[in-house]
Amino acid sequence: MAVLSGKNILLGVTGGIAAYKAAFLVRILIKKGANVKVVMTNSAKEFVTPLTLSTLSKNEVFSSFTEEKDPKSFKEPKWNNHVELALWADLFLIAPATANTLSKMANGTCDNLLLACYLSAKCPVYYAPAMDLDMYKHPTTAETFEKLNSFGNIQIPAAFGELASGLVGQGRMAEPEEIVSFLENDILKKLPLYGKKFLITAGPTYEAIDPVRFIGNHSSGKMGYAIAETAAQLGAEVVLISGPSALKLENDFVKIIRVTSAAEMYNTAHEYFGKSDVAILSAAVADYRPSEIASEKIKKKEDNFTLQLTKTKDILASLGEIKKNQFLVGFALETENEEENAKLKLKKKNLDLIVLNSLRDEGAGFQTDTNKVTLITKDNKTLPFPVKPKKEVAKDILEFIIEQTNA
Ligand code: CTP
Repeated sequence: MAVLSGKNILLGVTGGIAAYKAAFLVRILIKKGANVKVVMTNSAKEFVTPLTLSTLSKNEVFSSFTEEKDPKSFKEPKWNNHVELALWADLFLIAPATANTLSKMANGTCDNLLLACYLSAKCPVYYAPAMDLDMYKHPTTAETFEKLNSFGNIQIPAAFGELASGLVGQGRMAEPEEIVSFLENDILKKLPLYGKKFLITAGPTYEAIDPVRFIGNHSSGKMGYAIAETAAQLGAEVVLISGPSALKLENDFVKIIRVTSAAEMYNTAHEYFGKSDVAILSAAVADYRPSEIASEKIKKKEDNFTLQLTKTKDILASLGEIKKNQFLVGFALETENEEENAKLKLKKKNLDLIVLNSLRDEGAGFQTDTNKVTLITKDNKTLPFPVKPKKEVAKDILEFIIEQTNA
């Protein structure tokens, strides 16, 4: 899952032999879609050049409080603002972190730009120690780790293996791939929906009349897709059952199952419901389907043509009948007596929450990029929202579900 995509990562590089691995680290982080800035100590420059790291990170590398003065220029050198750098970061990763830097961090010493950034950082700070085995085992190092961890810093344990000294033991910096996986897992498991399984239906259903025609509706699937994507970004494992829709999803944590008819959507929803914690049914399911599907294309003959329709099974109501601990959410699209009708639907289908959108509201409903919803719970709590982009509406709905399910 692309948890690092779009994240601002400040990488602090200190002076140990493992500093050469910072180049690989930057490369992987950039490949994951992160924005990377590097701050390094002067001794780190002996192991890896700022040019290497700035080329890979596509950003200037910082190592002193002021940029180096150009001897041909009369201008005063620019101040490298550590506070700005620290506040820019969504996370600060110090790798490799030497015994010297860690000890200074633990004691509030601030004699270089990296340490000033550390003291100014408000974001999570991760550190990957790298040192020889005896230094790693030294009681002061253990004390340093304890102190740093008690401040809320997150330690990425050093590995066991061959060290630069030729000795074998613990102290090797974790490999760049391991560091990145550590970050991803740590971020993921702290997300509010981590470990939760979501079932979401979206889009229209098409009910075949003959091999070339169908009964459908104008639903685009935008609302359901936005909910699926946002739930995944909040850490949930999502199964999205989508009727025919042109929309695409790019999220490893959303498993998309494409269906066409109401009957297919019914069967697939029942297959996944038992394993779900939350089910949100936003699909605009056809209420009726042709009683018979012609096996050949129907030819036009008479001036009038009658199609016999049969009711489809109500997926939402059927899940309401069998639900155990699942939190079940339905949608209601109403044109009159909106709240009253929505409340009746909520009760009739045994829901925990209903999302009401009224077609009378401008910016609400099918095909639009915005929606205006009112959330109504089974204990009659009513929460109206203004018109918002569907992505934001998805966030409102999910935040409300998080609040309700944790209550
Ligand atoms: N729904 C469903 N299966 C159906 C019909 C509807 O799962 N066969 C779900 C929709 O996904 C939505 C909710 O039921 O979450 C409300 O659908 P809506 O069409 O507004 O209500 P109906 O119960 O069909 O009632 P009516 O059409 O009379 O308003």
